[in-house]
Amino acid sequence: MIVSVKEILEKAKAGGYAVGAFNTTNLETTRAIVEAAKETKSPVIIQVTEKTMEYAGGRMIFNIIKNDVEFYAPEIPVGIHLDHGSSFEIVERAVEIGWSSVMYDGSRKEYADNVSMTKKVVDFCHKKGGDNITVQGELGSVPYLSEHKMGAVDWDAYMTDPEQARDFVEKTGIDTLAVAIGNAHGFFTEREVPDWARLEKIRSMIEIPIILHGASDWEDGKATKAIELGVNCFNVDTNTRLAFVNTLSTIFKGDKDPGLDLRSILGEARDAVKESVKRKMELFGCVGKA
Ligand code: G3H
Ligand code: 13P
Ligand code: ZN
Repeated sequence: MIVSVKEILEKAKAGGYAVGAFNTTNLETTRAIVEAAKETKSPVIIQVTEKTMEYAGGRMIFNIIKNDVEFYAPEIPVGIHLDHGSSFEIVERAVEIGWSSVMYDGSRKEYADNVSMTKKVVDFCHKKGGDNITVQGELGSVPYLSEHKMGAVDWDAYMTDPEQARDFVEKTGIDTLAVAIGNAHGFFTEREVPDWARLEKIRSMIEIPIILHGASDWEDGKATKAIELGVNCFNVDTNTRLAFVNTLSTIFKGDKDPGLDLRSILGEARDAVKESVKRKMELFGCVGKA
């Protein structure tokens, strides 16, 4: 059942666990996430970026997600979210299609511009859908490791300022906040030790759910500690894509002729994605919470 993202996250916050927000780009990944949520009885957020709206068609990918949830997992609470919306126009378009949760990512703007643009998005969404449309903002900025060619990252330049976080939440009226505490988009070169004290401070400054982007390689102890200190949702993309691509690679490099049946080839990739998503759900503590 499609439900409000805010509701999923408030429950996670109250229950002391986190949920996953998994990016999808196609039918196979979407089905894998939906099946993982169904089999583990986990609430989940399924999200797409603008690039995916362009690739698949915004209305098409929205309907794939919605139909999949309604047909295959009507008993599971699922939120549909626009990830990293970069403009007011893309938010308007997503909401018009039916998205019930959006991120406006003004994290690379000057603070005053991030505040004013994020507030504009919040005002629009809340006027349109009240509590049923959730808005995520970002303060500080989560780096993309691709920007740094996997080289050294000046982590201090990206961090969320806890005092500013309180001001940002007050001024914009956002429902959830994405934070930067040493997390990054991409794989394998996160800041070695996240800034735990900063996370704790941010948590003490704001009431709303906290989102951690770039969680593909936040395994075991790191994820658990982040949840203890107040993270309510982890964004995962690279890990899912890796499961998909590695499976295809194994199939095509193997000794066996893979044949031409795309359903069999893509079906294997879908199943590998499902297993990777289930592992994350266990790690986040949301199994059985649906
Ligand atoms: O953080 C967001 C995604 O990992 C970026 O993916 O290539 O769809 O923009 P994208
Ligand atoms: P990763 O690709 O590092 O998992 O980040 C995903 C993300 O933050 C999507 O918004
Ligand atoms: Zn992200």
